Amino acid sequence: MQTILITGGAGFIGSHLTRLFVNKYPQYKIVNLDALTYAGNLENLKDLEDAPNYTFVKGDITDMLLVQELFRQYAFTGVLHCAAESHVDRSITDPLAFVKTNVIGTVSLLQAAKDAWAGQMEGKVFYHISTDEVYGSLGDTGFFTEETSYDPRSPYSASKASSDHFVRAYYHTYHLPVKISNCSNNYGPFHFPEKLIPLCIHNIINQKPLPIYGKGENVRDWLFVEDHVRAIDVIFHQGKIGETYNIGGHNEWTNIALVIELCRQMDSKLGREKGESEKLITYVKDRAGHDLRYAIDATKLKDELGWLPSLQFEEGISKTIDWYLNNREWLDHVTSGGYKNYYEQQYHKR
Ligand code: NAD
Ligand code: TYD
Repeated sequence: MQTILITGGAGFIGSHLTRLFVNKYPQYKIVNLDALTYAGNLENLKDLEDAPNYTFVKGDITDMLLVQELFRQYAFTGVLHCAAESHVDRSITDPLAFVKTNVIGTVSLLQAAKDAWAGQMEGKVFYHISTDEVYGSLGDTGFFTEETSYDPRSPYSASKASSDHFVRAYYHTYHLPVKISNCSNNYGPFHFPEKLIPLCIHNIINQKPLPIYGKGENVRDWLFVEDHVRAIDVIFHQGKIGETYNIGGHNEWTNIALVIELCRQMDSKLGREKGESEKLITYVKDRAGHDLRYAIDATKLKDELGWLPSLQFEEGISKTIDWYLNNREWLDHVTSGGYKNYYEQQYHKR
């Protein structure tokens, strides 16, 4: 019997991960600890509310006493640590919030796991979910492998790199049984519309400008979120303790090409004239320190654990657009209030 703590389960990736584990493993007990920041939303998990093997706890991972108490109460055998401040633009405005949650929050979880598992590490797993952004920025060629040196360049990626270092430090110093994965950009349902893809879908629906930073030439490697959580499942159960695995989609797009593809598909789905939404594309001031290109080499994960992405991008993005078109209420709820203030601040200074 496993009892697993998922942190940040009410966020984008965390909600898909929680759904996968609750449904696929009815014999596990899943506890979701989430502070419900602007990015956390229990509407993302409505379908799990009555699941007998699922419990939600509202709380902050930096609250060490709470985290220790949860380890005592539930005797966790595994941790899937997703909770984080995750948006680069917000990290540029407020770096300390990122240090608090991403660094201090991660260390408080590591410390609680180390204390709770002292003398009985066998069979336990502390899985830290991280990003490819820790590796820095690529030029036009090459890929990030697990051996690439860390070179974080935004407050977000610096805070994630720091948390990765702490996870490895707990492995080497205290033999905490850890695993880490570093994944490329995700997309899919329940993605908060401050990130490029859901923001553009939302703005295309509402015929608002599509803000492209700089010249739109930056490249990201996009992976469907359900493929990411499937990889986490495989690594959690079959990956080696102390190892790192890169997860990526082999699916590179410049931002401008991606937004044009979104416009093309949405014009067709919304019955608009061909080319109509492209007219909304608006070039705005570039992001400070904007990383040029991310691209993952996921050979290790394929060779050792047999994982491959399942969806072609055109299909994944079509599914994603359909989800947003069919869940306008979700979009309306998350775009009211706090998000509107952020949007004004972020885009009216550009
Ligand atoms: P998200 O911003 O959508 O969700 C984060 C969740 O964490 C929210 O539910 C929020 O309420 C919760 N949270 C934030 N601070 C907390 C705190 N102090 N205590 C408890 N809960 C807190 O993020 P996401 O996009 O789902 O990312 C999840 C993880 O995956 C992060 O660690 C991120 O670095 C990593 N990651 C994300 C991507 C991506 O493309 N989104 C890619 C690779 C890795
Ligand atoms: P984002 O979704 O914020 O993810 P990340 O910065 O973690 O890769 O941004 C993806 C790319 O899109 C990135 O190069 C920045 C760019 N971008 C825009 O051009 N306009 C926008 O409004 C946003 C949010 C991002």
